[in-house]
Amino acid sequence: MSGIVVHQDKVIERILTLELVRVTERAAVASARLRGHGDEKRADQAAVDAMRRELNKLAIDGTIVIGEGERDEAPMLFIGEKVGTGVGTKVDIAVDPLEGTTLCAKDMPGSIAVMAMAPSGSLLYAPDVYMDKIAIGPGYPQGVIDLDAAPEDNINALAKAKGVKPAEITALIMDRPRHAELIEKVRKVGCSIRLITDGDVAGVIHTTQPQTGIDIYLGIGGAPEGVLAAGALRCVGGQMQSRLILDTPAKVERAAKMGIKDPKRKYDLTEMAGGDVIVAATGVTDGALLKGVMFRGDVIETDTIVYRSVTGTVRRIQAEHRELAKFHLD
Ligand code: FBP
Repeated sequence: MSGIVVHQDKVIERILTLELVRVTERAAVASARLRGHGDEKRADQAAVDAMRRELNKLAIDGTIVIGEGERDEAPMLFIGEKVGTGVGTKVDIAVDPLEGTTLCAKDMPGSIAVMAMAPSGSLLYAPDVYMDKIAIGPGYPQGVIDLDAAPEDNINALAKAKGVKPAEITALIMDRPRHAELIEKVRKVGCSIRLITDGDVAGVIHTTQPQTGIDIYLGIGGAPEGVLAAGALRCVGGQMQSRLILDTPAKVERAAKMGIKDPKRKYDLTEMAGGDVIVAATGVTDGALLKGVMFRGDVIETDTIVYRSVTGTVRRIQAEHRELAKFHLD
């Protein structure tokens, strides 16, 4: 057990773990068919269509709480959309059918299809704004990092807790002009930085997987992406803190409509993704976390990772799909 106490009414059927894998696999295959075609919108739409079709087969009373946007800007998987058969557990769903649309369109590493499910009311209803995030993997004492501490102090504290020099720590940061100062400060303590152009759900999750070589995630990315990554981190005992960037009255108002009363609030993992959370991600293009979809004639291969918080279980599912390959379904 993960050691996290979850009330029975906050537990969802474990069979849904495998069902989520089916959903992200289909979304990944659909968008992977358009890998490298330079058309972000089409690749995203293919993933959205496939994800929605699969979600509607599930015996759940599901509500999209993090999706493609508000109803007027997204025809499908919009915030508030009901999914599933309508009979079954009441769940909240966060989706990013194609996370890293540009990566997929350019056939660059790191795009994934990802979703999270948790009992109704357990996920942070984050608007589509930026979020300041800090995250580390499992195995460290609580409180080693703090979003409000200086980046140098966070790196030094993490290095001390790991028993290494700051120069042996690798941070992952999105390659954006907004991070120029952050990058400078982190480099000053001798820490190595891996810059990514997109895809910070996988970026945050990298901290939980030693093979990625990433110790800490720092910086600003999307808020919906933050909630999805938080779900995965909670399942393995990682640490993460975040704060929404609500820098205009319009954003504050939008967040308030979604139930966010304190625009400056610092969130921890459980506040972002509480209850019995399940998170599934399937690789679209190759990455350090997941292999991309492989089309091999009569077989399609997918690589998925699925997390469940109530038991702290992480499964890697490498699947071969034959019907899907035969009929060119998506
Ligand atoms: P999309 O899949 O919507 O293109 O998002 C990709 C992404 O890189 C996220 O992983 C990240 O959180 C966000 O964009 C960062 O936003 P920006 O590109 O505006 O810096």
